[in-house]
Amino acid sequence: MCGIVGYIGKNDTTKFLLDGLKELEYRGYDSAGIAVLGDKKIDVFKALGKLHNLEEKVNTSSSKDYELGIGHTRWATHGQPTELNAHPHLGEYSYVVHNGIIENYKELKEELINLGHKFVSQTDTEVIVHLFENYNNKLNDTTKAFHSTIERLEGAFSILLITKAEPTKIFFFKHGSPLIVAKGNDENEVLFASSDAPLIGLANDVVYLEDGVGGIATTEGIEFFNNNYSWSTLPTSKQFAQKNGFRFFMEKEIYEQSDVVVDCMLGRLSDNEILFDEIDKSLIDGINEIKICACGTSYHSGLTASYLFERLSKIKCNVEIASEFRYKDPLLTKDTLFVVISQSGETADTLEALKMAKVAGLKTLVICNVDNSSMTRTADATILTRAGIEKGVASTKAFTTQTIVLWMLALYFGKAKNVLTNDKLSEELHALREVPKSLIIDDNMHEKTKRLSKRYLHGHGFFFIGRDVFFPLALEGALKLKEISYLHAEGYPAGEMKHGPIALADPELFTIALMPQNLLYDKIKSNVEELSARDSTICSISPLDFDLSDDFIKINETDHYMLEFFEMLIALQLLSMEISVRLGNDVDMPRNLAKSVTVE
Ligand code: AGP
Repeated sequence: MCGIVGYIGKNDTTKFLLDGLKELEYRGYDSAGIAVLGDKKIDVFKALGKLHNLEEKVNTSSSKDYELGIGHTRWATHGQPTELNAHPHLGEYSYVVHNGIIENYKELKEELINLGHKFVSQTDTEVIVHLFENYNNKLNDTTKAFHSTIERLEGAFSILLITKAEPTKIFFFKHGSPLIVAKGNDENEVLFASSDAPLIGLANDVVYLEDGVGGIATTEGIEFFNNNYSWSTLPTSKQFAQKNGFRFFMEKEIYEQSDVVVDCMLGRLSDNEILFDEIDKSLIDGINEIKICACGTSYHSGLTASYLFERLSKIKCNVEIASEFRYKDPLLTKDTLFVVISQSGETADTLEALKMAKVAGLKTLVICNVDNSSMTRTADATILTRAGIEKGVASTKAFTTQTIVLWMLALYFGKAKNVLTNDKLSEELHALREVPKSLIIDDNMHEKTKRLSKRYLHGHGFFFIGRDVFFPLALEGALKLKEISYLHAEGYPAGEMKHGPIALADPELFTIALMPQNLLYDKIKSNVEELSARDSTICSISPLDFDLSDDFIKINETDHYMLEFFEMLIALQLLSMEISVRLGNDVDMPRNLAKSVTVE
């Protein structure tokens, strides 16, 4: 979610740090900062918004002779985007930059405050530097202090730390979030970055650090704490690097869904309950209904959530398309929790719907991927999806993390209303923990969608059909195809086909049938048989072989329908992308579309 750079050497430290952060801009951020050490003094510069704000600060007041430094672009997960919350974070004499989420930061912060440490930010990151100094003040040994610090942290933490106590060293550690260390092309140079792009052209030999690997860098070289590392050669193309070697940002974002879901659940999934820092259980007090309002893909995650809220929280839930809701003179009652869902937090129709709910005096909650957006500044409460920037116009990881947050919220409310048995809760928590695995893409799956895509480049249209939560998933699959292939497709409740649409059934009508084993399989199977009997061309996606389909994408057998949901989602996203590739379309920037529709 965030970007990290670090430099130690004889060249212009601030230039490397600022240029490096610019190369990480594509990852999205809301604030940035650098800390540079020269002549045993540390200067720090931080700025909100775009990097040129930081650059101005650095260029007007920095000297040039810094020996080392660290830099960071922040995508807010804990605490509003403010200068105080921007990294690097200071203790008394040390600075740290961090990518990830410290799950146990609350207890660490409390412990450190009781020991007299003063905190200035709302972030989880700040505990790292105070913990380090606390140990160093006791042990008077920075290496031992760094090790002791790392041992206390839980969650995901890739960090760079500099300290006046050791003005020639950068301490580093990787756990969860990515971190790369490189030998600079100039001698005595060591470079750090959270992805390849800032290093291209400045280094050849790099170590893509594995979890649990850390060390200390000086101009003499790199001392690793253990041998679990190997040297690689850096790619030469920045564009290639920004897409992490994938062809499109959309492809990269489909593949990173497993990782971002881990981030999305960090600190929220404990052994036996769901935790949300951002809201309080009282949010559901006095609430008898949840009304969800959104657009596009976000509407589809909302529709999915409506099944989960009624099934798991036993709360009535309905979902409205924001552009319809705005003008229907809706009846709003104060016992309704109004939930808006938006990747960007700027969609005009959704924002206006939110404002209408506020005016009507309803409690409002936004599920959003961008902190400090219009919606997060308007709603009473915000839950961030932590998907990181989504560059592809066709939404993928935003939908996935929205659905995860909403599923967790359904369990959170179910527990708060005491309508969820402990057995049911642990069954759901177990399934949630399995989701990252369900989102890992098997090469055979991708190859299958590539092969199948050649058959679906024409025809008079597609039906995507499913039941229950697989109906909104069918809607999402149809939208993905429409958006990037420009072929007509519609998602439809499988049980509704016989009420008219089946008149379209013929070999040129392509039906993508979502057939989960764990939810209404027999019902969906009979719906598909009705279509097959009328010679429709059918591609079924299921863990169970189904010989009446013309094409078949097999997913893994699991014990929970939501795991089937996410595996099928991957298949739908890849199939749409591969069809679009064959049609020669711009996968990342489809015609007529914008990433955020900020007008009516
Ligand atoms: C989905 O692939 C599209 N990009 C579009 O439907 C999008 O979901 C919709 O415009 C809502 O955007 P938001 O989530 O930023 O509010």
